[in-house]
Amino acid sequence: MSVNKPNTLQDFAMLKGKRKLCMTTAYDFHSALLAEESDIDAILVGDSAAMVMLGHNNTVQITIEEMILFSKAVARAAKNTIIISDMPFLSYQVSDELAILNAGKLIKESNVNAVKIEGGSEYAGLIKKLVKAGIPVMGHIGLLPQSASLSKGFKRSGQDSKEAEKIIQDAKSIEESGVFSIVLEMVPNEVSKIIMDNTKVPIIGIGSGPNCDGQILVWHDLLGFDEKKRIFLKRYANLRNNITKALKQYKKEVIENDFPKDNNSFYMNKNEYEKLLKKIK
Ligand code: KIV
Repeated sequence: MSVNKPNTLQDFAMLKGKRKLCMTTAYDFHSALLAEESDIDAILVGDSAAMVMLGHNNTVQITIEEMILFSKAVARAAKNTIIISDMPFLSYQVSDELAILNAGKLIKESNVNAVKIEGGSEYAGLIKKLVKAGIPVMGHIGLLPQSASLSKGFKRSGQDSKEAEKIIQDAKSIEESGVFSIVLEMVPNEVSKIIMDNTKVPIIGIGSGPNCDGQILVWHDLLGFDEKKRIFLKRYANLRNNITKALKQYKKEVIENDFPKDNNSFYMNKNEYEKLLKKIK
């Protein structure tokens, strides 16, 4: 593990202003293992799992049970990395009591460090209650994928002054309620700069430019599982090509009898083989 990888949420928060924080999502055992081996500062088990793992069109379909399943797999692998799990759609909007029960279930059953909640000042009261109950909360403002279908879809947010002002107020309000960090999704540079200058908790951007304290990208996006063009995204690998190339080679070798070879297989003990031949004659 690198020297200054944060071990606790306090360490994570203390890195603000000292160095940039780097997060990725992960949803399964092996991805989490690789994220940990790469010294990623914190893993988010995002409700983007609905789309990239389960093939839904949006994030609202995923259930708390499914989030727990993915979170458990990640927690089994990344034992020395901070893990935050998304509270899925309708697991916290119905009532504060249900939200506390669901957040507690997610943390207790999955063994993750914190939960993430989408929404601004409307959730300030709930965030206070969760923190009071001992559940660390990461906020998420700007573009809110869970309510994207109610607004303008998966589009940039905060481009007009009214919307920008609301996002800035949201940041202040959820910070005052006790979030340890905030994900800021798809807001213009000017807005992320104002939020950075007016908050003390780490601001983790996605599509919100270089001003933020850190960045998060979705695993499948950053590793190139698809080829969709997105302005905010940088692909650090092209796994789609590598994987399809490998699978095509595998099929070719199976069809051409090139795999498995003798050294990919094994033989019986000679005596046992002779006994077997006698028996089946
Ligand atoms: O669900 C998710 O992956 C997220 C990130 C986009 C921040 O919320």
